[in-house]
Amino acid sequence: MKKIQAEFLEIYKLALKAKKRAYAPYSNFKVGAALKTKSGKIYTASNVENSSFGLTVCAERIAIFKAVNDGYKDFKIIAVCADKEVFPCGACLQVMNEFSPELKILLKIEGNLKVFKLKELLPFGFEKDFSL
Ligand code: THU
Repeated sequence: MKKIQAEFLEIYKLALKAKKRAYAPYSNFKVGAALKTKSGKIYTASNVENSSFGLTVCAERIAIFKAVNDGYKDFKIIAVCADKEVFPCGACLQVMNEFSPELKILLKIEGNLKVFKLKELLPFGFEKDFSL
């Protein structure tokens, strides 16, 4: 198995920390995300639910939107964690694809940290030029 770099371990730890701030009283499924920009800035987030369930926003999208709103659009890696094994949902993968198709995604799968390419999880995402 490939060794996980210290940089990636650090970002996973930040995702774990962010998970503690999840607002998930309806699903009780707390998710944390930590996003690192290519320039080295880190944005963290957790999921925020609503009594009107459809208004819930995933941790990944909040982290990305925080970064984009701060002027960062080039991302290197996003770590995502929950109390159980989790893969980012399709909506979040599509939002990742908008900004950084080469993004790496760090997850804990079968007990081990594993780096995925966005393309592996979303091989046929909607591309900007489809609608031009
Ligand atoms: N959730 C995330 O935050 N990220 C994902 O990738 C999947 C799902 C949240 C949304 C909701 O608050 C809870 O997990 C259960 O779906």
